[in-house]
Amino acid sequence: MARQRVFSGIQPTGNIHLGNYLGALRNWVALQADYDCIYCVVDLHAITVPQDPAAFLVERGNAAKVLLAMGVDPRRSLLYYQSRVPQHAELAWILSTIASTGQLNRMTQFKEKADKAGSNLGLYSYPVLMAADILLFRADAVPVGEDQKQHLELTRDLAERFNARFGEEFPLPEPIIPKTGARVMSLQDPTAKMSKSDPDPAGRVLILDDPATIRRRVKRAVTDSETEVRYDWEKKAGIANLMEVYSLFTGASMQQIEAEFGSGGYGRFKEAVAEAVVAGLAPFREAYDALDDAAVHRIMEEGAVAARDRAVPFMEGVFRRVGLSA
Ligand code: AMP
Ligand code: TRP
Repeated sequence: MARQRVFSGIQPTGNIHLGNYLGALRNWVALQADYDCIYCVVDLHAITVPQDPAAFLVERGNAAKVLLAMGVDPRRSLLYYQSRVPQHAELAWILSTIASTGQLNRMTQFKEKADKAGSNLGLYSYPVLMAADILLFRADAVPVGEDQKQHLELTRDLAERFNARFGEEFPLPEPIIPKTGARVMSLQDPTAKMSKSDPDPAGRVLILDDPATIRRRVKRAVTDSETEVRYDWEKKAGIANLMEVYSLFTGASMQQIEAEFGSGGYGRFKEAVAEAVVAGLAPFREAYDALDDAAVHRIMEEGAVAARDRAVPFMEGVFRRVGLSA
């Protein structure tokens, strides 16, 4: 039987952080063992908020380099820039003709971003482009963090509507959302998710942060006025967040963490968390430093060629269904 297909994307803006890693990228790397994986640096999504062109080009390259350093393996998976494969935008247009504006109005990520940045048509149709990304390659599964769940539901709705109207074309993709780490919270505000766009850098740990920065960020993480290390999202979100991070890097269960650190005070626990994160991220920083930009550029261009080769016949199928090709 053919291997199931996985697709996922990440925006190349700001720097890749612990939330991206624990929520999604860890799975990207792991799934390569068993799936046909297609991973996309979604630069067209990123320009739905204003970018400085020169800086953006550099950031995009750095994001690709981080993905490679973390273990996305171009010999096993496709990796490319979305804008280099025009079929994404083509399919997005076709899907936009069956997408309901009522449903798009309910997208929480759009509402949040539009509140902050002011709206534009691209920001509004962002979820339709995301659906096109996934459906273009007939993906079966999509590894993402919790915040993308609603977009995945929209993707499935669009696939179902297309199939009902034009004939069975798209499988309905399932999200792969981890049990732990699906929503890593800000270190400065445990009620908000860790985010690239948070103006306060103290809320996040970047994959490429040096050990001193990581230790400082974890040490200053906002917790609560108690002293007991206990897994309780309702009363102790800051500590619960750090416990999830520690658990993911060390494999310790929540019970084991409570047994080891429960009454030892937050200082001792935070030190252990910081050391676990420093050790866990060190290999990525080393691999990043060893990659040269020319090699990254070549890998991304080769990825785009291979992705176009696969996307063209898929689009032909869509064109025939819709009546745009004989
Ligand atoms: P983005 O940076 O918005 O392109 O997100 C890339 C991937 O990281 C998506 O799958 C997100 O769901 C995931 N992600 C982003 N922020 C977090 C977070 N704080 N916790 C867990 N996953 C996240
Ligand atoms: N919307 C996703 C995010 O903000 C990025 C993304 C774009 C994506 N296209 C995708 C994720 C396709 C999974 C599959 O993180």
